[in-house]
Amino acid sequence: MGNKRILIAYGTRYGSTEEISQEIAKTLKEKGFEPELFNLGKGKSKNWPQLDDFDGIIIGTSLKINSWKKQVKSFLAKNKIKFKNKKLGVFTCGAYAIAKPSEAKEDIAKRLMKNYELEADIYNAFGGILDFSEDSKIGRTGQLALKLAGKGFSQDKSLKIDMNGRNDFRDWDKIRSFAESFADKL
Ligand SMILES: Cc1cc2nc3c(=O)[nH]c(=O)nc-3n(C[C@H](O)[C@H](O)[C@H](O)COP(=O)(O)O)c2cc1C
Repeated sequence: MGNKRILIAYGTRYGSTEEISQEIAKTLKEKGFEPELFNLGKGKSKNWPQLDDFDGIIIGTSLKINSWKKQVKSFLAKNKIKFKNKKLGVFTCGAYAIAKPSEAKEDIAKRLMKNYELEADIYNAFGGILDFSEDSKIGRTGQLALKLAGKGFSQDKSLKIDMNGRNDFRDWDKIRSFAESFADKL
């Protein structure tokens, strides 16, 4: 596999997708690859990395009001043709994956990627952080929006959510195993 380069391009608002991307990079590095992290929300699109330099690309986005981060959508639209001859991995981070993991995964694969006429080699949907604590980065309005969006979760009795605290639903084993499966495809 020697020194294959992998770009991990992601969109994040509060940093949880960034930490997932960092864990993926760490796993790939341990497997002998050269991962490079790129936050699509920083800087101008003209400074985005050139895909020709990479053997594989992983794209990650957090979800907000059922949507991918805007820059991630632009990145997909801009590079559509170039992805076609590369190994491509896609993941989302959000509340959807906590309540309905298989539907969340199917959605990326079938519904969302279809908008770009793209198919990735590997997909996954990871749970994110639901922070209802006093010092939450999402603020009061964000918490209200999330509570409304998350009404469905409360119907799932097996799911323990602290509606006054910080809930970190990121499953690091699942995240590492996604990175390993991607590595195996290269
Ligand atoms: C206002 C708001 C709206 C959200 N809407 C969704 C949503 O529609 N679907 C979902 O799966 N997660 C949703 N989430 C959960 C976030 O995706 C989750 O908090 C994630 O960890 C954020 O990732 P980031 O820190 O990388 O931005 C929402 C969170 C906030 C604060």
